Amino acid sequence: MYTVQNVTMTYRRRGQELTALRLPALTIAKGEYAAIVGPSGSGKTTLLSLLGGMLSPTTGHVMLDDVSLYDLSPADRAKARRDKLGFVFQTFNLVPYLSALENVQLALYLAGVPTAEQRKQASSLLDRMGLADRLHHKPSELSVGQQQRVALARTVANQPAIILADEPTGNLDPDSRRVVLDFFDELHRDGCTIVMVTHDAVAAQRASKWLHLRDGAITPAAAALSAEAA
Ligand SMILES: Nc1ncnc2c1ncn2[C@@H]1O[C@H](COP(=O)(O)OP(=O)(O)OP(=O)(O)O)[C@@H](O)[C@H]1O
Ligand SMILES: [Mg+2]
Repeated sequence: MYTVQNVTMTYRRRGQELTALRLPALTIAKGEYAAIVGPSGSGKTTLLSLLGGMLSPTTGHVMLDDVSLYDLSPADRAKARRDKLGFVFQTFNLVPYLSALENVQLALYLAGVPTAEQRKQASSLLDRMGLADRLHHKPSELSVGQQQRVALARTVANQPAIILADEPTGNLDPDSRRVVLDFFDELHRDGCTIVMVTHDAVAAQRASKWLHLRDGAITPAAAALSAEAA
């Protein structure tokens, strides 16, 4: 599904250059549940942004289903993102003046789902997230964990083939974390590909593959573990 070839990402700031990522080769198969782990600054978010079509690499190619994402026009890349990818971030980007239900409905509306159907699907998703009694609350009236669950419901509403998540359980209470991780398990069982950046060992345990980043490179798991222990 994803093939990364000879990718480097060099940030330039005030005349300084920093190569944040060096990936000679990486594949993430369809249906895989991959956890990207590693210390702060090791390039995790950079890698996720590259996979998400949001950051053009300095060199190399990111292939998504045999299409080179950054050789597409910006419009075609945006379409590929819309058609295939769902994003989950720590900042949820919910629309503040819409209710939980309306936030999820909005995603369906934008995908052209008829109004009655929008409402049905959105409330059923929120129900699965344990938010049946919070449908009409605005984001400011919800806890952080509840907001993350609304954001997740919105992300999965259009059934993306691939979910890219950056610290989806970062600030969550144990209950919300369990809801989110159980939901990811369900998506994974249903064939969804998940790539999740996480500092959370409990979350990482759920994944089927670990990518350890260190200084912008993928290290073998054993080396990463002994380096962390040292
Ligand atoms: N826009 C930018 N301009 C310059 N340098 C950047 C930029 N974005 C990230 N970096 C640098 O690239 C490196 C990798 O950053 P990245 O955000 O990918 O790390 P991370 O592994 O996600 O860290 P964290 O766990 O703290 O979120 C860091 O050293 C960071 O300072
Ligand atoms: Mg990060």
